[in-house]
Amino acid sequence: MSVFKEPVVIHKGLDNVYVKESKICFIDGEASKLFYRGYSIQDLATHSTFEETAFLLIYGWLPTRNQLAEFTERIESYRTLDPPILQLIRSFPLKSDPMDVLRTAVSALGLYDAQPLTDDAEARIDKGIRILAKAPTIIASFDRIRSGKEPLQPKSGLQHAAGFLYMLSGKEPDPYDAHVMDVALILHAEHEMNASTFACTVTASTLADMYSIITSGVGTLRGPLHGGANEAALRTVMDVGDPTKAEDYVTEALAQKKRIMGFGHRVYKTWDPRYLILKNLGGELAARKGQEKLFDTALAIETSAMKHLEGSPIFPNVDSYSGVVFHMLEIPTDLFTPIFVMSRISGWIAHAIEYLQANRLIRPKALYTGKTGLSYIPFDSRVGTLEG
Ligand SMILES: CC(C)(COP(=O)(O)OP(=O)(O)OC[C@H]1O[C@@H](n2cnc3c(N)ncnc32)[C@H](O)[C@@H]1OP(=O)(O)O)[C@@H](O)C(=O)NCCC(=O)NCCS
Repeated sequence: MSVFKEPVVIHKGLDNVYVKESKICFIDGEASKLFYRGYSIQDLATHSTFEETAFLLIYGWLPTRNQLAEFTERIESYRTLDPPILQLIRSFPLKSDPMDVLRTAVSALGLYDAQPLTDDAEARIDKGIRILAKAPTIIASFDRIRSGKEPLQPKSGLQHAAGFLYMLSGKEPDPYDAHVMDVALILHAEHEMNASTFACTVTASTLADMYSIITSGVGTLRGPLHGGANEAALRTVMDVGDPTKAEDYVTEALAQKKRIMGFGHRVYKTWDPRYLILKNLGGELAARKGQEKLFDTALAIETSAMKHLEGSPIFPNVDSYSGVVFHMLEIPTDLFTPIFVMSRISGWIAHAIEYLQANRLIRPKALYTGKTGLSYIPFDSRVGTLEG
């Protein structure tokens, strides 16, 4: 029983708790709408690039041509890893999960910051951009090292998406592949106060440095309830293996109360607008790559699930096609969540900076339901359980 007399409301999962006002991202989960700084995700996916979208999220406005060129050059100039960081990545067990590698390497970057103590907004943004720029190099370097290949230096002139695909494969990507990757990064760049963004915000509220803030985000995105659903969705599509088997799979899964991966969302109670964008790109990509069977299986699962879930608020989310798309881009499955990080760092930076403009240490409460006033028990009288 609680020792507190006043009525206390516990907001389990912090559902519907607002922690700040924000001008960064708006999701209308009933109307299938998503806006970054007021611009619709469809417009950004059609007209923007990841670099431009990251600028928009971090600074709040669409950059001029010169601002974008300066921002792009800045990212490019920060891409290379310092030798000790590369050495550190080489020292990790080859079987490490790439998310663990990324989390550790992002944290280690802070040790090599030339001005670790500067913490005004511009210095924080710059540190954030350094981490953003280096994330693809960290991920690609580890992937090559674990496959027995030498990591590659970032290639000048290639942007975040194309540069990452190049550092993974050693080949300059086909322009359409680079475009699909770029759009996927735009779609994952920001999504309001999700768990990892909240983790970054909590860390920012203590006035910790940007490396600690982003490391908190990576650690939180690591969990299967947050990042990771796209891997599971791809696995489902591959296990089903053929469009003709989709109906049996869905019927059986739902009968057993299993969740269809890539469906349902805490905020969207209708189509996730990002899903449709990726589905359209995925269809074209499948035709170019001769991967129609994989894509048609994903489509058949969707058609069947929509038939069975009709009338419920469960619709396809971004993950129903992102895993399939990344797979068609020949990206190893365990890199899907690190790619999410590679993009989401831009949203994390934006939220940390925004929160710090009107900072208040985040310190919620826990309702104590334990005992008080117990007498200390000498060793010989203890039973070694909760009972005594
Ligand atoms: C994302 C998710 C956790 C959101 O869940 P939520 O809004 O909190 O909804 P709940 O977990 O409370 O589920 C509500 C009901 O819908 C059902 N449901 C939710 N997602 C479902 C899915 N993907 N397939 C089948 N049924 C689903 C639940 O089983 C539950 O049914 P019940 O009331 O009979 O028990 C959930 O939809 C899910 O697990 N989806 C699959 C994983 C996924 O794609 N995640 C990526 C999100 S971007």
